[in-house]
Amino acid sequence: MTIVCRPDELISDLGDDVLHVEDLDAALLALSNDPTEDLVVVGPRTDAAEALRFAAHLRMERPTTGVILVREQVDVELLTEALRAGVREVVRADDTVALVAACQRSRALSDRARAELHVPDEPEQGERGKVVTVFAAKGGCGKTTIAVNLAVALAGIDGTRVCLVDLDLAFGDVAISVQLDPVRTISDALPMAGHLDTTGTASLLTPYRPGLDMLLAPVTPGDAEKIPASLVSELLGVLRGMFDFVVVDTPAQFSEHVLTAMDVSDHHVLLTTPDTPALKNLRITLDMLDLLSYSRDIRSVVANRSDSKVGLTPGDVERVVRSPLSLQVPSSRSVPISINKGVPIVLATPNHPVSQAITKFARERLIGRPVATKAKAFARRGAGRR
Ligand SMILES: Nc1ncnc2c1ncn2[C@@H]1O[C@H](COP(=O)(O)OP(=O)(O)O)[C@@H](O)[C@H]1O
Ligand SMILES: [Mg+2]
Repeated sequence: MTIVCRPDELISDLGDDVLHVEDLDAALLALSNDPTEDLVVVGPRTDAAEALRFAAHLRMERPTTGVILVREQVDVELLTEALRAGVREVVRADDTVALVAACQRSRALSDRARAELHVPDEPEQGERGKVVTVFAAKGGCGKTTIAVNLAVALAGIDGTRVCLVDLDLAFGDVAISVQLDPVRTISDALPMAGHLDTTGTASLLTPYRPGLDMLLAPVTPGDAEKIPASLVSELLGVLRGMFDFVVVDTPAQFSEHVLTAMDVSDHHVLLTTPDTPALKNLRITLDMLDLLSYSRDIRSVVANRSDSKVGLTPGDVERVVRSPLSLQVPSSRSVPISINKGVPIVLATPNHPVSQAITKFARERLIGRPVATKAKAFARRGAGRR
């Protein structure tokens, strides 16, 4: 059957096996009632932005269901935005032949995607690894440093398998900070979007050391923009089925990709340094995460370079951000030295106070903690962010 969202005229073009709905909420309801439904045709009377949001949601939550957009006018801008959101085809309202052909192609794609989807998007609770996103809204706070060292620390504990994902898509520097050659990157996942499995995902990874693999950021300028946020959630969904921990390094802004990672994360590690701009940004970040209804239980606030003699104590930091600190990482010249040598400090000098702080945090806050409830995205996004 095909679900058609307004107007009725389209129905006659698509034959008998069609369910007509008045709006996209009704389409979502119809989809949830019928898990085998694999095509939604969105008619020209539905608002374009709403249709794209709907397609982006389905791409993430139900990648085997196709969305075809019917518009009175089709231009390059609309086409680009639609394809980026995950719409399979955009067809002009007066072109019935094209619409029927697009429906057939979408069905064939859905059949193939279903057949190839070996790995469920959401593995059983017991077998899924934990996703840990490291974020700060200000650059230079130490996100990459903490993410890399946290990944190394986790991988050193009792055979834990870890994947570090560099989600700083435009300026990722995980590869350079551990001296890895980025031969394969997140960009290579693009042709597999919508039907990623463990074999395909494994082919994207760069091994770093036993128990630790890396999914590196694109290197070609402009590639970052080609990565849809839905691909991030698909990748993290597959990776968490392959690893005990997936640690995500991020850029210094609340991009759609970062929020997607936050959505599927079991733990948010939020960084600041003891200076007022970083603290202000952390305060805004915490307010934003509250507004988006992420659980505070999955949050750790971390003060990096916490002993820097710059006039602010850890107590001052806690007062400003109105949140207790879960970890204080001291400042040390050994940190940039380790990065310049390409060996993370946790690996180079495990007994260093910086290494010990990060390893203690990994053991006490992350290992053995129950998997938290996943934050739900679509409803909240619709209400809060757009
Ligand atoms: N605890 C620390 N002590 C000293 N230098 C640090 C520490 N943490 C990070 N740095 C340095 O700060 C700079 C920025 O760190 P980085 O991890 O790249 O930040 P981000 O990823 O948030 O932009 C790097 O030169 C790094 O070596
Ligand atoms: Mg960084």
